[in-house]
Amino acid sequence: MTEVKKELRGTVSYDEEGFRMSTPQAIARYKAERLKTKTVADLGAGIGIQALSFAEVSERVIAVEIDVERTESLRKNAETAGTKNLEIVLGDALDSEVVRKLGNVDAIHSDPSRKKGGESWNFTDLSPNPLEVIKQYRCDTFSFDLPALFPMELIPEEWEVEYVSLSGELKRIGTYLGGARRFQKSVVTLPSMERIIARKDLSRTVDVAQLPSKWIYDLDGSMYYSKMIPEFLKTFDGLSLLHQDRQKTLLTGEKLRSSSFLIRTYSVLDHAASINEVKSRLIEQGAGNVVLRFSIDPSQYYEERRNIGKGLEGTKTIYIFRFNSKYYLAERTGEADNSQKSTEG
Ligand SMILES: C[S@@+](CC[C@H](N)C(=O)[O-])C[C@H]1O[C@@H](n2cnc3c(N)ncnc32)[C@H](O)[C@@H]1O
Repeated sequence: MTEVKKELRGTVSYDEEGFRMSTPQAIARYKAERLKTKTVADLGAGIGIQALSFAEVSERVIAVEIDVERTESLRKNAETAGTKNLEIVLGDALDSEVVRKLGNVDAIHSDPSRKKGGESWNFTDLSPNPLEVIKQYRCDTFSFDLPALFPMELIPEEWEVEYVSLSGELKRIGTYLGGARRFQKSVVTLPSMERIIARKDLSRTVDVAQLPSKWIYDLDGSMYYSKMIPEFLKTFDGLSLLHQDRQKTLLTGEKLRSSSFLIRTYSVLDHAASINEVKSRLIEQGAGNVVLRFSIDPSQYYEERRNIGKGLEGTKTIYIFRFNSKYYLAERTGEADNSQKSTEG
């Protein structure tokens, strides 16, 4: 269970699957503001985290859900929240009877359920299928949540694409059509709502650094997956790309920069040519604990970490990076402790 949802446990009614699939509250609130209108329909409303947020800011909400147990949770959650402007419809959102029942609404939202564990997605993996929803419903404004790794090239050109990151973790792709459309493509991070907008005019070539300078940064994964690292680097002048793969993107620069997309910041303290030299430098730096930030076979990570950290009696946690066969010792700055992962290679 992700950290961001823990706060809801005990406060809402749910089945485990419904809870797992539910929209994190910060995203639900953000989305509700974006779609604020008179009547919103939420197709596949689950246990209702998103639908209840809609109800807080829009006049009327119709929540359609196919699963009986989940509609019961949704009803209880609405009752607990004292929500009076939410109607629940039990049924298949694509059933013509349900479509007829909904009638005219101002906006249609859907966060469809997804087949589990997939990396390569298609619209047919989603239920209700957004393409079918558009065919069935007459509405000017649609919004669909897609899995974070949904292939961008399958998303129709006229849809707005918004990568949504929460506390440094890419969570989903929000899409908007018609009246709700604002940008062509962007990345937004919550809760700060910092946004980087895609630019077609921008050269896709970026400054690449061979070695780190004074500061190293972990960049939010949403930039890599949205292919918007050039836009980010253009916005934050003076930063260069140090390393990039599916697991992590590292940037470096001479100046201290601050952005919610820079999820961890390290100050480089020293460097060393070999592991033996690393050990001496660690003692000099007053290290008591080490975190390895270079690629290493996961099965050997803890042994290697124990070996490097053996005999250290200081108090500092030192992060060790490796670039071009050289080791770099760095200390993490206090702020933006957004991500829980500190042991990745
Ligand atoms: C990802 S969950 C939605 C979670 C919701 N946004 C929340 O905040 O709790 C998707 C929901 O869609 C429902 N669903 C799937 N296909 C449906 C359909 N054709 N009609 C109505 N609901 C459907 C599933 O039962 C599931 O509860």
